[in-house]
Amino acid sequence: MSRNKLQKFAEMEALPNVFQYPYAALAEGGGCPLKGRWREAAFGGRPGRIVLELGCGRGEYTLGLAERHPDANFVGIDVKGARMWAGARVAAARQMGNVAFLRTDIELLASFFEPGEVDELWITFPDPQMQKARKRLTSTRFMALYSGILPQEGGRVHLKTDSPFLFAYTCEMLRVNQLEAAPCTADLYADTADTSLDEVRAIRTHYEQQWLDRGLTIKYLSFCLTPREAWIEPEVEIERDAYRSYGRGQLSPARPVRSRRSSR
Ligand SMILES: C[S@@+](CC[C@H](N)C(=O)[O-])C[C@H]1O[C@@H](n2cnc3c(N)ncnc32)[C@H](O)[C@@H]1O
Repeated sequence: MSRNKLQKFAEMEALPNVFQYPYAALAEGGGCPLKGRWREAAFGGRPGRIVLELGCGRGEYTLGLAERHPDANFVGIDVKGARMWAGARVAAARQMGNVAFLRTDIELLASFFEPGEVDELWITFPDPQMQKARKRLTSTRFMALYSGILPQEGGRVHLKTDSPFLFAYTCEMLRVNQLEAAPCTADLYADTADTSLDEVRAIRTHYEQQWLDRGLTIKYLSFCLTPREAWIEPEVEIERDAYRSYGRGQLSPARPVRSRRSSR
């Protein structure tokens, strides 16, 4: 591991707004002491809503939302500490009491939050996981996970992505499960007539800027997640994102991928 990374990890240990719980730490300590008490333990007793950014990378979205909504509390979550370090340092330097970062795997969310403890989720530029539906952050497996920590009514999920594949998959997943995506746009920056999306446009993540620089369109959708007994995984042919595995500017012929049915 590079010295730079080691130094970042050491700094992270000392930052008061960073909580690190890999599998081993959870198992040893018998669970996460923050579960059910995020407001008191991480946000100095602030009563506001709790909003998560999943796969936050450097945390641009977490910081941007927290600045705009000082009455709410924000947690950026990622497995990669060296990326999160950047956002955590900025939040600490600006003394942003409504920002925390949690270093862990998204699959462990239920170990960190009580049912209904989280009000809203942002998923910003995740890997579309074109090969494995189970790994997509908007697959039915993750929907079941999210509905376990969001309120029974009105828990909102936002997805911002460059990926036509993930956008199409998510739209289809919502359609077959009878959930409405609203608002929903395949070209966020062209759709300027809808001023309710101004804030979504105003905050750009590191990856978002890279995709915009390459001339790609950004897609955004949001939906209210209502819990259900069983989730239906869509069975559709979705065209792959040809640009992902090739160099800048180079495109390949797209091949379709079949999405398989899975359980809950
Ligand atoms: C493509 S990057 C996007 C980062 C940031 N949202 C942005 O737009 O700049 C995806 C991020 O998700 C994180 N990630 C992927 N799978 C994860 C998981 N299972 N648990 C936690 N973080 C994950 C990666 O470490 C990475 O930082």
